[in-house]
Parts: sequence; structure tokens; C-alpha cells
Amino acid sequence: MTSREIRDAFLAFFKDKGHQIVPSAPVVIKNDPTLMFTNAGMNQFKDIFLGDAHASYPRVADTQRCLRVSGKHNDLEEVGIDTYHHTLFEMLGNWSFGDYFKKEAIAWSWELLTGVYNLDSDRLYVTVFEGDKGDGLPKDEEAYDFWKQVVPEDRILFGNKKDNFWEMGDTGPCGPSSEIHVDCRPDSERRKVDGKALVNADHPQVIEIWNLVFMQFNRQKDGSLKPLPAKHVDTGMGFERLVRVIQGKVSNYDTDVFQPIIGCIADRAGIRYGSSEKTDIAMRVMADHIRAVSFAIADGQLPSNNKAGYVIRRILRRGVRYAYTFLHFKEPFLHELIPLLAKQFEGVFDELIAQQDFVQKVVLEEEQSFLRTLVAGVHRFESYAAEYQTISGDFAFELYDTFGFPIDLTELLAREKGLSVDMFGFNRALDEQKNRSRAATAIDADDWVVLRSEEAIDFVGYDRLYCETEIVKYRKITAKGKDRYQLVLGITPFYAEGGGQVGDTGFLIAAGNHQTIAVVDTKRENGLIVHYTEELPSDLQGLFIAKVDVEKRRDTEANHSATHLLHAALKQVLGNHVNQKGSLVNADYLRFDFSHFAKMSEEELVQVERIVNTKIRENISLKEERDVPFQQAIDAGVTALFGEKYGDNVRVITFDREFSRELCGGTHVRATGQIGFFKITSEGAVAAGVRRIEAITGSEAERFVYEQSNTLNKLRGILNNPKDFVVALDRLLEENNSLKKEVEQALVEKAHQLKGELLAKSEDINGVKAIIARVDLPSEAVKTLSYALKGSVDNLFLVLGAEVGGKPGLTVVVSEKLVKERGWNAATIVQELAKEISGGGGGQPFYATAGGKDASGLDRALAKAKAFLQTETTAS
Ligand code: ALA
Repeated sequence: MTSREIRDAFLAFFKDKGHQIVPSAPVVIKNDPTLMFTNAGMNQFKDIFLGDAHASYPRVADTQRCLRVSGKHNDLEEVGIDTYHHTLFEMLGNWSFGDYFKKEAIAWSWELLTGVYNLDSDRLYVTVFEGDKGDGLPKDEEAYDFWKQVVPEDRILFGNKKDNFWEMGDTGPCGPSSEIHVDCRPDSERRKVDGKALVNADHPQVIEIWNLVFMQFNRQKDGSLKPLPAKHVDTGMGFERLVRVIQGKVSNYDTDVFQPIIGCIADRAGIRYGSSEKTDIAMRVMADHIRAVSFAIADGQLPSNNKAGYVIRRILRRGVRYAYTFLHFKEPFLHELIPLLAKQFEGVFDELIAQQDFVQKVVLEEEQSFLRTLVAGVHRFESYAAEYQTISGDFAFELYDTFGFPIDLTELLAREKGLSVDMFGFNRALDEQKNRSRAATAIDADDWVVLRSEEAIDFVGYDRLYCETEIVKYRKITAKGKDRYQLVLGITPFYAEGGGQVGDTGFLIAAGNHQTIAVVDTKRENGLIVHYTEELPSDLQGLFIAKVDVEKRRDTEANHSATHLLHAALKQVLGNHVNQKGSLVNADYLRFDFSHFAKMSEEELVQVERIVNTKIRENISLKEERDVPFQQAIDAGVTALFGEKYGDNVRVITFDREFSRELCGGTHVRATGQIGFFKITSEGAVAAGVRRIEAITGSEAERFVYEQSNTLNKLRGILNNPKDFVVALDRLLEENNSLKKEVEQALVEKAHQLKGELLAKSEDINGVKAIIARVDLPSEAVKTLSYALKGSVDNLFLVLGAEVGGKPGLTVVVSEKLVKERGWNAATIVQELAKEISGGGGGQPFYATAGGKDASGLDRALAKAKAFLQTETTAS
């Protein structure tokens, strides 16, 4: 079977068992503070498990793109070194939401593996949770009994909490699990050592392929387990491993999932895959990492300097550095693999093929800039290594932090020079940095205090800006040493930050005692709308009026609707390649990031503004459709965003069917006329292939126009209200330029004249030609003069004092010969002299300058110079 057939067979099998096949969620996670990237198929169903959302279907299955590069599940360091870990991998999964449980999950997994994929049942082992005293959990007898019906008992093993109790993170849904392992060793080896002994023992040929989790608990922050409202099934099968087993390969990288890419790398490197361990590892790293980086970018996470963006940047750099060091790719190459990858995933994850040019451009730019730092870092390393015997922890950390060197690269470079790296010091520096950033961002959340059991929360804020409501649950959080509260309400008019639009602020007013609590922000967390407050109401049980800050909401809406008009106008003016890459909409302004490869011209910007303002004047009514089936909307050509997780039914916002239709959950003006006026305030680059427009609307735009015209009027006034302002200003600048030139010319002449005068005054003292004088010229002229004198006088000792505009300055010149023979140093001399003018300075041994605060000391400084000359010359 090809990998495509294997994937299709999985989905067909579960479809046949009544499962709805759903799309993969994006690999980048937006609204879960406990997670940066999707690390398991179940992530997109987390709130269903927790009881915070309803399931649309009781049984679903899919292939989910996952990234295990941070947090609880992190495989990054293994990738490439071994043959079965990956950064990005596909997880095939089937789920039951309160529907079937252990019996079916177990029977079906066995049926698929042995009946459809025809795996040799003799090579399969299963594990069952042995129970855990600490958590008060018994042995999973139930699972054991179901397994007994399909597997001989000597191949059912019991496993501990580490292997057989699956948890999503430090908190969240979890439950006992059963894993299926496969022994891929040749028969000769199998006869020697029983496969049973190698299960969960990190043997490269005896590996886990499928994990069946029986979700029953929610791990609390205090470590305790709370039963979930219902029992669920969550399974995950590593697709690349499965393919390897079915295709009978010893490495995931030998399957048709990776071979095309590896073939391409090997061709370009001119090195055969399989020719050496080092080059093989490098090829595996590259083949793996380009997948992770490409999908992260396609799903909206650009490489950057912090958080998730930094993780992606580091993965890419790890790829570049393996390519550079072991395969001698000195030029960017990884981006060239993207078309092949996109083609491979066509029909599976189409996000990549749809944005291929954009993703390539981003990766290319990252490669170019890292290759530059890599070269610079290697230089820095070379000069350090020439001086020191060991690589200090701090220096290794500098390479890591400033030049993006993974520590193994530093170790490798050091080894080549026979040096060692102070790993202890490095790890200490790394820990310190981690602690610093953890302290800066750590959010400590208590467990929820549940006041009412409400299944799903209800947002009424599309239609109303206030309503009567109750508190469903709340908890305290601490961030940056500040306490805050998160409140979940029964129904709420508060819009939670999302789709670029900021969360609403406003008030909660207690119906009983009229206590008013400010809501300072509203955010979505998984399925919940969370209201942030700085205090808790005294009566938590009573009724409240929830009231949104109307003015702020209205201004925000104007900016949000304007963003839609802008998006459509950009597509009209620049072309259909324009895709939204980020957006921020608040009451003050809007910011819109989009894919486009060149700076926008002045004409293009004006054209975009014109289109938007025309649409505003047309006063187009908002058309809002709340429950459109996703596919129907897409077929109708409604704009959807990449990296966004849409439900089965979506909301469509239309301003003129022929102009702007977008999938959007935000709030909008009733008609475009409410936007008033649209003005772009800036256009620039944010990243490779991504431009950013900032703009304002309504009263902000009005204020901006007034300010501009006021400034202009003031300037006109200053120029005495000329008829043509631009001509007058041009003339003024021209005049200024020619005056500048005249002054420069005059100064040069003066310097020449002074040179003559000073030469005439110079004194010969014991073989030194000394000139010590006041010349009140600007510093540039003093410099010219000094160099001119230095060029024409041997054995020169020159000290010039100058005062311009009340500021004193000193210049000291010492001929190279005097520097060498007498050890004089202009820099130390000027330092000493500058004390007289309350200043300081420096430079080179033959030329140095100083500035100061006290011009009255200039003459003292010159006297000091004379005294120095006297002593030094008589002494020698
Ligand atoms: N959620 C389970 C896992 O990731 C299936 O292994």
C-alpha cells in the first residue's frame, strides 16, 4: 500500500463504522494558553471532553497534523538522530464523544490492523494500565478483558502511569490508555529475544504505533483528578510509523512519505542517502524540519523572535545548520523543497499548495538571514577559540542566544578544534534565561470554582449590548504578580477577543446591591468566554446586568468593517494573491497584515483608499448570516482565512455581494456609512512577503485630517503665507543648501590660512615640532586642519583648543614617529587635558579628540599641554 492508500483506508474504515470524517485543525493554536501547537488529534476536541461544548457528531475520525516541539510532548532533539520521531507528523485518530467506549475501540483497532492492513498479529503486543496508588486508580481490568477476546494473554502487558495514562498537558483531559506495539525485527532476532521484553524499552524496531485513550478525568492544578461529565474515546496512531510497518521498512524515512524529499536533498547535495551516518542524519533533519516549518507558516505562524514564532525559527535554523555543516549547502536550499511537499499533501492538507509562493518566500528569507549569522557566528567562534582553551558557558550561550547556534553545533565546532565546552555553565545561563522569561510571562491559574452547571455559554452580543445574567464559574489567576479574576457568565453581550478584534470592556452590575465591577477584558479560552476583572463581586450567586462599553464597541466595529473593505480593495488593486496574515482591530485604529511581495506605490495606496471611501459613501447595509454550512460558504466564494479553525456552520459577513464576503465572528457596523471616513496612516514590511497597513476611521480619521491641516497652516504662516507653498519651501531649502556650501568653502579657506599661521608659530623643542593654539572653528574644520598639518609636518605634537557656541573641544595629534619612539599617546594626553574643561574623550595614539562642558578651562588645558611638552622633552 502507498502512504496515500494507507491514510485513505483508515478514514474509510471508520467512516464505515459510523464516524464523520472531519478536517485537521491548524497546527498553530490560538486560544489555549496551555498550548502553542497542536500536539495530539484530540486538541480540537478538548472543550467537548471538558463538557464546555457540544459535539456535532458522536463519532469522528481524521488525520491531524501535529507538532511536538515544546511543552509536555517535545521530541525535537530526537528528530533525525533516530528514525521514528518527527517534529511534524500526522496522527490518525478516531473519537467517541460519550458514545462507544473500550469494547468497540479495542475491537476496531484490532480489526483494522490485522484485517485491513494485514499486519501479522504475531508481531503485535498491547499494554493495559496497571493502576496507580497515588492517583487512587485501579488496574484497567475492563480493557484487559476486551483485549483477551482478540489477543493471546501472554501478549497483553501491564504498564505504569508513565506509559499507560495519557494526559494532554499538566492540566486537562486525561485517562488510562492501551497502546499497541509492533515488533519489526527479523525472525532470527525474534527467536533470540522475546519481543515482549522490548516493549517500551526504546528499541528502534519494537515501537508503539497506536494509543487508545479512555478519557475519563480532568487533571486539576493541584494534581487531583476530577471525573469528566461523560466517558470518551481518544485514539492516536502515528501515520509515518504505520506506513513504515506496513511497507516493511526499518525507518520511517525509508517510506514513500519521506523518500521523495530525501531523494531531492541527496541529489542536490551530490551525496547518496545511506552513505554515512552523519549525512543521513542531516538529510533526515532537513526532510523532517521543512515539513514542520512549512505547515506552521501556512497555518499562520511566521518565524519570529518570541514564543511560537521563535520555536519555528529554531526548527528552521536547526535544518539550515545541518544542511550547512554536513551537506555543505552554503546557499539557501530548504525552500526549494516546498513545491514537492505541497504536491505530496494535495488533497490531504491543501493549505500548503494554496500558499506555496508565500511560504517559500518566508523560508528563503529566513534561510538567507540565518546563513549570514551562521557565517558571522563561526567567525566569532574562530577568534574566541584562538584565544581560549575551553569554550565558556557564557560564550556558548552568547552563540546560542545571539547567533542562534544550537548547542550541539558549538560542541561540534569545539570538538573539531580539540576544545571542550563548559556545558554546566551553558545550562546555567540557559536556565537563568528561561527563568527570566518564565517569570515575565507566567500565568498561575487556580482551578475553577463552579457555581452553576451550565452546558454551553451563550453570546448575545451581536444583537444586544447588555443583558441580565449569572456567574457560572470563576477562578483567580496571577500574572506578573498581579491578581485577576476570570468569570464565565451564563449569557453575555461581551465579545471575546478573536479574529483580530479586541475583547469588549464594560461593567457587571449586581442587581441586588448595585455593586459595579469593571470588566477589563474579554477573551476566549477553548470554548469559554472569559471576562477579566480586578475584583470579585461580593454576592457571587445573584443576578447581574452585564453592560458593554458602547462607545468603544462602536469605534471598534467601524474599524473592523473597514478592515473587510480594505481586504477586498487590496485584492482588487494588487491581485488575488493577497491573503490576510494577521489583523488587529481596536477602538483607535486597525492594523492589517497581508501577503504581498513588494512595497505598495503611492498610487496603489490612493486607489485602495478611494475604493474603501467610495464603499463607505455607498452606505452598504451589513448582511449577516449566522448559520451557513461551511462548504456552502466556500463554494459561494466567501473569503476564508488560512490557519483558522472553522466549525461546520459559519457566520458570513457581506458588504455588497459583489465586493466583500468574509467568514467572520466579529462585530460590525449596521451600514458602511457609519465608518465615516477611512485613512491609511502607514504601509510597510513586517516579514518576508508580508506587508502591513495601518489605518484609522471615523472621528480618529477626522482628527488626523485636522491635525495635518493645522500643521500645514502653521508652516504656511512661518513662510509668510506664500501663494505656492511647495515652491516656496523648495526655494528655502535650495537657499539653505547653497549657504551651507558657502560656509563650508569659507571654513576650508580659513583652515588653509590658519595652517600657514600655525606653521609659522610652531616651535622646535628637542626634535619635536610643537603647535599649541586656540582655533575657534567647528569640529569638522579642526579635523581638516589637523590632518593637513599632520600631513606636512614631521615629528608633530599638535594641540588645538576650540570653542564654538559655548562648547569647548580639544584635538591632539602625535606623529607616528613620536608615538613609536617616545611612547606618547594622543588618546591618554587628550583625556588628561580634557579634565580642565570638565570633559572626556579618546581616539587613537596619533589622533584623539575630547569635548567638555567648561569652555573657560580651554586655556588651562593648553597650558597643561605646554607643561607636558616641557617635562617630556627635557626628561628625554
Ligand atoms: N491523545 C492520544 C495521544 O496523543 C491518543 O497519544
